[in-house]
Amino acid sequence: MARVTAVSLRDRKKAGDKIAVLTAYDYPTARLMDDAGVDALLVGDSCGMVVMGHSNTLPVTMDHMVYHTSMVSRATKNALVIGDLPFLSYQIGPDEALRNAGRLVTEGGAQSVKLEGPASKFGPAITAILNAGIPVMGHIGLTPQSIHQIGGYKVQGRDADGKKRLMEEARGLEEAGCFALVLECIPSALAAEITAQVSIPTIGIGAGPDCDGQVLVMHDLIGMGKYTKFAKVYCDVSAMLSKAFASYVEEVKSGAFPTKGHSFE
Ligand code: KIV
Repeated sequence: MARVTAVSLRDRKKAGDKIAVLTAYDYPTARLMDDAGVDALLVGDSCGMVVMGHSNTLPVTMDHMVYHTSMVSRATKNALVIGDLPFLSYQIGPDEALRNAGRLVTEGGAQSVKLEGPASKFGPAITAILNAGIPVMGHIGLTPQSIHQIGGYKVQGRDADGKKRLMEEARGLEEAGCFALVLECIPSALAAEITAQVSIPTIGIGAGPDCDGQVLVMHDLIGMGKYTKFAKVYCDVSAMLSKAFASYVEEVKSGAFPTKGHSFE
């Protein structure tokens, strides 16, 4: 199977084929996702919350992202790897944005990067990264790196001004050259409208069924995340692990493990 690319994802939209994206942070789970046919693995700065235990994504650094991206890249043969640019890695200016995007590619092995926010703010950073030959994914709606400005994790674009702004931001990121667009936590009807208006694929998360593709945070899908209305738990790994850990403790304490069978002569 040929590797999914930023270019082939655009063809998927034209063909009407839905795009399945998951977040990934480590080698073993990324390998399973790649084998399962997930089209793109986003090494999200959500690792700050679901892996590192922070209450938001702001403490995540470039070094963290390079570390996680390199593990995911080593695990994939088919999926497109998208490295997420963390807080303050692209906001300061285009030179720094390019240097950091470059690190996700050269040290992390990613084939593309993602940043949050509109082209009206980050157009020069997007251009600098694209000029170096690195595909850029946009991200609008609920943008967690602006959580203090937004005032909480809530649905965006509910009122007329918000809808107009998000439509303009989507068009602006398409014009800036982004190969795809994450739409996070926006009303379904608005996501459908944006999807119809732009030629690049829209990847929804909390954006309803009419986007060109879907992304979920892995931990939400396997029952290790917090409850979110838009996520679906496909298996309860949390319950399985808790049971296994408790059984291990019990068997070590009772002497049931290890047995002779687990030992060397
Ligand atoms: O960091 C992340 O995982 C993301 C997705 C939720 C889109 O940006």
